Amino acid sequence: MKYEHKLFQGKTLAILSGGGDTPAINSSIEAIRNRASLLGFKVYGILQGWKGLLGDGDVVDLTHQPYDGYYGGTALRSSRTNPFPSKKNPESRVPQVLRNFERYKIDVLVTIGGDDTNGAAKRLFETEGIPVIGFPKTIDNDLRTRTIHHYNGKDIEAVMCPGFPSAAQSMMEFTANLKTTAESHSRILVMEVMGRDAGWLTGTAIFGGASLGLIPEFEITKERKEVFFETVKEAYMHSKKRCLVIPVSEGTRWFDEKTGKVDVVYASSELDEYGHPRFGGVSGIIASEISSRLGVEARAQISGYYPRSGHCRHYDRRLTSTLADKVVDLLLREEYGQMPVMKRIVPNVELEEFNTTSIDMGAVGNKPLSDDYYDISKFAFTDAYRDFLTNILGKPDCEDFRYDFPVVIP
Ligand code: F6P
Repeated sequence: MKYEHKLFQGKTLAILSGGGDTPAINSSIEAIRNRASLLGFKVYGILQGWKGLLGDGDVVDLTHQPYDGYYGGTALRSSRTNPFPSKKNPESRVPQVLRNFERYKIDVLVTIGGDDTNGAAKRLFETEGIPVIGFPKTIDNDLRTRTIHHYNGKDIEAVMCPGFPSAAQSMMEFTANLKTTAESHSRILVMEVMGRDAGWLTGTAIFGGASLGLIPEFEITKERKEVFFETVKEAYMHSKKRCLVIPVSEGTRWFDEKTGKVDVVYASSELDEYGHPRFGGVSGIIASEISSRLGVEARAQISGYYPRSGHCRHYDRRLTSTLADKVVDLLLREEYGQMPVMKRIVPNVELEEFNTTSIDMGAVGNKPLSDDYYDISKFAFTDAYRDFLTNILGKPDCEDFRYDFPVVIP
């Protein structure tokens, strides 16, 4: 007997993805689509984030289409379009969004995004009564999900955002790979990692063999810079192979000798529609100062879009399915303006719906790396952060060359 989808028959759920892509967005779309269509919804995909709800709209039908959730990025494509007025675009495009909502007869909208996309969705929910459910996404992992990491008898406020686990795995592998070239040349490689405001992703390099790192949460003042050079020198001299990979966040605030000020380094000062400039280049400055101060060869390597690219990894696959299960719960209860999140930091096998909850999308905002995870006096990530990462990555990937050769004495 054919299963009849009755519950939400005649209703339409639309999905959009906005902001920077991640390897887990297609997985999220597929998981939400599968569950929503089982509930009886017709499922639409809105192309290019909010942009797909402007003009005549750009909408596709996902209901019975094959979908590849392992493939990275987003098949619905993305944009940083803001429906609300911004400095870059002072005109409100909310009336266009509302018109398309009517035209396409959308009953519920699921927005896969970070603080910007979900913030705009929440505003639409509050001001226009549009039923929205936010779905978290960012490789930076700085979207406040209020997920608790229980470590050594303490409850630490952590974050668990789809996209981060895949990016973390890529950064671990990338760092471990860089180590072999750094070793071969006895160099220091200063590796720049995405993260405008938070060092969550930068810290994942410790699972690829890095020890020190710089994150946006702490300014590197003139005084701190001196201590940093000393710490780098020590670490370099004590490293087995005379080499270091030092991860630094793109948003690192570094003391500039010329201006006498602490500042970030911009790749472009042009702002997007949410008011963000583009960062980039701090690794080059730090590497050249390390070279001249310590007399050691140092080079910069920008990891850039690498952690954002590629397929969805295993942890993310389960995480997106689990959070999509919570979306079903929200749909059944007709609870809108909410975002599904993990209650606790758990290993892969415990990614189950009973470990999820939902939070008000208005209470999201940015969450920097907790003080429990980084020790500025040592410029190092702590054991608590290692434990957090163990849940996601299992074991570190930092093998050393296995053999030592006897020295020949002539
Ligand atoms: O999505 C956030 C992020 O990954 C930031 O870390 C980074 O600054 C930004 O995206 C860059 O995105 P794009 O170059 O695509 O605008």
